[in-house]
Amino acid sequence: MSDKKILAAYFSCSGVTAKAARTLAEAVNADLYEIKPEVPYTPADLNWNDPKSRSSVEMKDPGSRPAIAGRVEDMEQYGAVFVGFPIWWYVAPTIINTFLESYDLSGKIVIPFATSGGSGLGKSEERLRASCAADFRPGRLLNGDLSKEDLAAWAEKLGL
Ligand SMILES: Cc1cc2nc3c(=O)[nH]c(=O)nc-3n(C[C@H](O)[C@H](O)[C@H](O)COP(=O)(O)O)c2cc1C
Repeated sequence: MSDKKILAAYFSCSGVTAKAARTLAEAVNADLYEIKPEVPYTPADLNWNDPKSRSSVEMKDPGSRPAIAGRVEDMEQYGAVFVGFPIWWYVAPTIINTFLESYDLSGKIVIPFATSGGSGLGKSEERLRASCAADFRPGRLLNGDLSKEDLAAWAEKLGL
């Protein structure tokens, strides 16, 4: 058990990941932080059937880095950072790369978690790992009903 605190940072457009993040934060006694885009995503932006929608355009370009509004105050106080997101086109939205690249996370444990319509984490981890020099651990899909006991046991296994 580290004496440093745990952060549960998340990005969520329709509330599903936000709910998972709240449960996780309660289960592992973490501070919650919402990753808010500088320009919020509208329903039209999220239309995956439209190849020209904002999300389609961003996700076709792995180098896109949508801007974030605000910052985590004093990231230094955290020893571990859970990073949550919805799966978009089988990976993490590129705003998660923006988040990871905005801080010096070296020496911290970073653990991804996601919600989805069914897809797994797939290549998300590979793409995120490239965006930070952290001690990056395998993540989990947190779809459906979550057990706080199970989440707490996960954190314990991670050595948090
Ligand atoms: C642009 C876009 C792309 C998506 N791509 C996938 C996908 O590849 N696989 C999947 O299972 N779900 C996909 N989904 C569904 C979301 O991952 C799912 O609804 C998620 O729980 C939404 O989380 P949120 O409410 O926190 O935004 C996609 C949703 C959007 C808006």
